[in-house]
Amino acid sequence: MAEVRSRILGLGGYLPPNVVTNHDLAKIMDTSHDWIVERSGIEERRWVGPDEGNYDMGLKAARAALEDAQMEADEIDCIIYATLSPDHYFPGCGVFVQRDLGAGDVPAFDIRQQCSGFVYGLQMADAFVRAGQYKKILLIGSEVHSRALDKTTRGRTITVLFGDGAGAAIIGPSDDPERGILASRMHSNGSEAEALWMGYPGMAPQYENFVSPEGLEQALQYPTMEGQKVFKTAVKRMPEVINETLDDLGMSVGDIDLLIPHQANLRINEMVGKLLRIDPAKVHNNIQHLGNTTAATIPLCLADAREQGKVNPGDLVCAVAFGAGFTWGSVLMRW
Ligand code: ACO
Repeated sequence: MAEVRSRILGLGGYLPPNVVTNHDLAKIMDTSHDWIVERSGIEERRWVGPDEGNYDMGLKAARAALEDAQMEADEIDCIIYATLSPDHYFPGCGVFVQRDLGAGDVPAFDIRQQCSGFVYGLQMADAFVRAGQYKKILLIGSEVHSRALDKTTRGRTITVLFGDGAGAAIIGPSDDPERGILASRMHSNGSEAEALWMGYPGMAPQYENFVSPEGLEQALQYPTMEGQKVFKTAVKRMPEVINETLDDLGMSVGDIDLLIPHQANLRINEMVGKLLRIDPAKVHNNIQHLGNTTAATIPLCLADAREQGKVNPGDLVCAVAFGAGFTWGSVLMRW
């Protein structure tokens, strides 16, 4: 019997309408449009409005992906929800989508791999489909960063980089054995776990209580990042894992038609492109308008590339991500 391959059957996204430009940020903290563009390539991002949350956006992205796949919600037999910014500490966002989407009592996995969440989810979905465990999987990446950022000058290094948004994909069996996910590789290394993290609130023994006035007074609830360490590790790990995944298939960088890198920083992606010696026209970025939407960057960027006619049947598409943990991974698929 021929091996079953999985494929992205539908893609969708949702972006909050509220656009926050670099000039808007410069009104609330000591920063400038030029500094942000020069260091990150970002010109604007979206922030949720007062009535929007993480799973609201995930649900809208899921509905768009279902429509794109021409499927009904009750055909979904598994949900995977990737986020680092859930609406609640528990339960995760997946069950809220299950409730409101009109899916059956299907399993909902919430996964926590930050910027690598979507590629980790793709690998999981691919394995489930190929094993015959589930047939139609809804994978969501959604983030609300804007409610957890320090919007004063103290937080400017991080705050200017992030945006809110959601992307989703439906993964199911491919009807064409040549098309679909061909290979994927995921990694983690926790030795630099604190180089990019939000360590509080939490259950760690150093905190007497999950949340305390003292913790909030010390502003422990904001994410912190060693920017240069993140930059250097990302530009090493992303080309490395792409080459590993290509090696698994006996392919080389020249075989890639389209590279969809995680959108953390345009400078990181330009450096990754240079190190790989890939034609810049084959690398798609949309961070300029969205900032870093973490688990949502890959589906939003892929959907954007498709809208611009950059993804065509038969193309070899590579998605690659690197994020907090550190975690990283890449997925190669024949579109
Ligand atoms: N506006 C103006 N000045 C700023 C800002 C800002 N938003 N942020 C920092 N500065 C200042 C600093 O205070 C510092 O001033 P000083 O020299 O007077 O002390 C100066 O700019 C340089 O600061 P650095 O932190 O050394 O700047 P760097 O050149 O390293 O750039 C950046 C910072 C953009 C974060 C860079 O390190 C980087 O791109 N790192 C990669 C991290 C990243 O992209 N993370 C995204 C999330 S992680 C992920 O998704 C993988």
